[in-house]
Amino acid sequence: MSETQPPYILAIDQGTTSSRAIVFDQSGKIISQAQAEFAQHYPKDGWVEHDPEDIWRTTRDTAREALETAEENGGEVVAIGLTNQRETTILWDRETGKALYNAIVWQDRRTMDVCTKLREEGFEIHVTARTGLLLDPYFSATKAAWILDNVDGARARAENGEIAFGTVDSFLICRLTGGETHATDATNASRTSLYNIHDNCWDDALLEKFRVPKAMLPNVRDCSDDYGLTDPELFGRPIPICGVAGDQQAAAFGQACFEPGDIKSTYGTGCFVLIHTGDKVLHSQNKLLSTIACRLDGKTTYALEGSIFIAGAAIQWLRDELEIIKSADETAALAESIENNNGVYLVPAFTGLGAPHWSPSARGLVSGLTRSSGKAELARAALESVVYQTADLMNAIARDGAETKTLRVDGGMVANDWTMQFLADILNLPVERPKILETTALGVAYLAGLKVGIFQNIEEIAERWRLDARFQPAMSAEERAGNLSGWADALRRALA
Ligand code: G3P
Repeated sequence: MSETQPPYILAIDQGTTSSRAIVFDQSGKIISQAQAEFAQHYPKDGWVEHDPEDIWRTTRDTAREALETAEENGGEVVAIGLTNQRETTILWDRETGKALYNAIVWQDRRTMDVCTKLREEGFEIHVTARTGLLLDPYFSATKAAWILDNVDGARARAENGEIAFGTVDSFLICRLTGGETHATDATNASRTSLYNIHDNCWDDALLEKFRVPKAMLPNVRDCSDDYGLTDPELFGRPIPICGVAGDQQAAAFGQACFEPGDIKSTYGTGCFVLIHTGDKVLHSQNKLLSTIACRLDGKTTYALEGSIFIAGAAIQWLRDELEIIKSADETAALAESIENNNGVYLVPAFTGLGAPHWSPSARGLVSGLTRSSGKAELARAALESVVYQTADLMNAIARDGAETKTLRVDGGMVANDWTMQFLADILNLPVERPKILETTALGVAYLAGLKVGIFQNIEEIAERWRLDARFQPAMSAEERAGNLSGWADALRRALA
């Protein structure tokens, strides 16, 4: 570290629809940022793919842009943190670094039949006992096996050690280090269905059942750890990568959810609620997932997670498919322009439904349309759908015995005051929005900063959390019940 220049941390946030890079200073202030969207591919019904070269190009270019802008201001980037869309699966040739097939995205449902078959064989209880997960195409194991079975020669080459498997973090670490490091962190590993979250190791029985050769797996490290140096050609000098976590776990870290009962909900492409459960794995009775929250200095902490597949993506659908808005910012005004939802509900089961239903075959629907329904009703229904789905998760969490006094929120959608007030109203719970909404990037910047000594410990990080706004519930019980019963009705039809 230079003695004269302030140390900066570059946080790379590789998400489902865009890659972003944010440079933070040591007080957690944003110095610069860059973002690039990339193409989504839907080759068949229920299939979702990304071109790994798009993932790499947008990551590299946004990282360079944010780094150069930040350093023009006089600071020096001394560490890199990397956070990512989880579960998305890439297999690549160890020699050339080239992917064998497109990235199969977490939303992809193509392995639904394999999961159904394994469930019918009674295998789900073994998966849950070891990984905390359920048998669903969401997770990486069946996606990896699909590539091995569908790309000529892939399985034999993988068994021979020529092929590497990784979630997006591993793929990017490999590219960033010029092929030197093949590693992942414990949170990303815990989303593959192949990792034993109790023993903290790849699980041989699961590898065998899912037919994934051990030779292609990455080395699993702490979230704050040494992941190697970037290739000097990339940023003009080598920079250590020393913080890695899946995006939802990074967001929980950025929200300072460190104690049992601390809970956050992140609104990105999907919505993910994580409640910290300390050093214990709690098994849900209500179809929530148990997952690794963080691993620091070899010490693992856990969380219960509710995963919703479509949140911000419903707003993108209004913009890109229906073309009834030009930008997401228009939705709040449209929603507010009508007094209530006029009976119109959207169930955005575009890629099936996640927690607590886990129905890969469910499909989306709009109900309650009349001749006078228009843009306002659809925009409002899309925003409300995100809130109702959160309410379903919060109910499952409550049924599992967790008490929540408040919910911390983050992600792009929470800038929308109307939605946050509606969330507090429907949950009947105070909703807290922090000053820094880029909690995912901030979380992984903290993890990297811990490793290089910019931050000393998690107590110091917890003290940095700042409230921007608290939304207090203000809806009558009767109105809340009416809204929820309309949602339950629409949901029933989507699941039928
Ligand atoms: O599990 C999928 C999740 O990590 C994707 O996050 O931010 O792209 O919605 P996001």
